[in-house]
Amino acid sequence: MVTRMSRRHALGLGGAGAAAVLLGTGAWNAAGAFAAPRAGNPFTLGVASGDPAPDGVVLWTRLATDPFAVDGKGGMPATPVRVEYEVARDERFRAVVRRGSVVATPELGHSVHPEIHGLAPDHVYFYRFRVGGDISPVGRTRTLPPCHANPRQLDFAFASCQAWQDGYFTAFDHIAADDLDFVVHLGDYLYEYGVGANKRGVTTDPRFHTETFDLARYRLQYSLYKVEAPLQNAHAAHPFIMTFDDHEVENNWAGDISEIDNEPDQDRAVFRQRRADAFQAMYENLPLRRAQMPTGPDIHIYRRLNYGRLADLTMIDTRQYRDDQPCGDGGGVDCADRLSPTRTILGATQRDWLLNGFSRSKARWQILGNQAPMGQTDRDPGPAVDVWYDPWDGYVADRNQVLAAAQDRGVRNLVVITGDRHQNYAWDLKRDYADPTSPTVATEFVGTSVTSGADGADMTPDGERFLAANPHLKFFNSQRGYVRVNVNRDRWQSDYRVLPYVTRPGAPVSTRASFVVEDRVPGVQEA
Ligand SMILES: [Fe+2]
Repeated sequence: MVTRMSRRHALGLGGAGAAAVLLGTGAWNAAGAFAAPRAGNPFTLGVASGDPAPDGVVLWTRLATDPFAVDGKGGMPATPVRVEYEVARDERFRAVVRRGSVVATPELGHSVHPEIHGLAPDHVYFYRFRVGGDISPVGRTRTLPPCHANPRQLDFAFASCQAWQDGYFTAFDHIAADDLDFVVHLGDYLYEYGVGANKRGVTTDPRFHTETFDLARYRLQYSLYKVEAPLQNAHAAHPFIMTFDDHEVENNWAGDISEIDNEPDQDRAVFRQRRADAFQAMYENLPLRRAQMPTGPDIHIYRRLNYGRLADLTMIDTRQYRDDQPCGDGGGVDCADRLSPTRTILGATQRDWLLNGFSRSKARWQILGNQAPMGQTDRDPGPAVDVWYDPWDGYVADRNQVLAAAQDRGVRNLVVITGDRHQNYAWDLKRDYADPTSPTVATEFVGTSVTSGADGADMTPDGERFLAANPHLKFFNSQRGYVRVNVNRDRWQSDYRVLPYVTRPGAPVSTRASFVVEDRVPGVQEA
């Protein structure tokens, strides 16, 4: 039994803002003031932290004694529950620096997102939660350096695309073991599809066989993913900086337009309700700050974090404000509409914000956390240009404008990190791919999937074709894994970390290839 509270009592606590500030030791008393008879561990979905700042971080947990309850309520009562938290300098919580409580409400799936302030910059902290007699696993997090500092280096990993049905999340155990400042997640944290037949070779409960469509079902899908130990381990080891791509809602959605051939939600009002339910479940399950709490079908996910003056990390949103894909959701050679000057993937407001940020940035490295590949993927080694329409190839005007602005406004080093494709690429970003003499103005590292596409292979027929057709493409690989990055003042290095299999647990990891970008020299170079 978790601690229940009346609404009045809950409001009296004032939420995250009422966090008590305590210094000194303070191990939690097992028979604390809010102890209650125990009927199941409420911390089945783990703990997480996110969006680090120089002075703090957002912490996350979601209470669920029965994470697979079919109503999506996690086995929790229809009443608010008080959740205490502690932040300490040490893993054993002898030096607690922040302590407080927040209220988990049924309206938000009993999730909590306390925002911690007043921490020291560039420091490691440990945190945990308590409900009644139950204490959560311990999470580790890390603040960013001061905004004006000039740090020597930054270490992070980026990952994307973790279809549960395609394999085990072993890559996250390797991410958990890496020494990182943070992890960037570039979307497809879950897939909306029903999970029946799967590459894990396990039998799933029929409640997971339907496609996700409403809040209860999205919550259930998050539970399926979040009970995975490797994912919990990675969240507990590092703060995450999150965005979403399409599958958090539905494959290839665009603005308030559903995927073209999906029948039930062709009606925009129906799709907007689906989007609202998907975003709510996403917010409930991820370490996002209050600024990212959705309002109905809308969420403000694009934002910028500063790693001192070494790097700016700009997370963009290429789903919510885009025009519908040109010429349908597929691809081909003869879609004039993809070149239309009025088509947008960012929307005018976000694009202006992004380009103004280019002008103002003092950072040595400008990192763009992006969803689908920005570089041109020509699939035809002959003279025709055969591309997919969902990524930036379907929105050429926005691509050219962003890349031209990066050069014209003097961005020192623009490096785009990307997911979506379930393949590893390292390639040069050209100011205009239609002009063979166009300069390289930036660099893009596309990271493969955590599991999507199952075991994969080093080279595929796709890869041979892409390498032949795209001279700007320097590396192709189609195994599963993630990308680890080290950035210092002179050089960026991307290590492509790959796993030999994901359809069985426990795969080892190795570095398949490494590529660098030198300061003031746009484009990929061999490490
Ligand atoms: Fe994906």
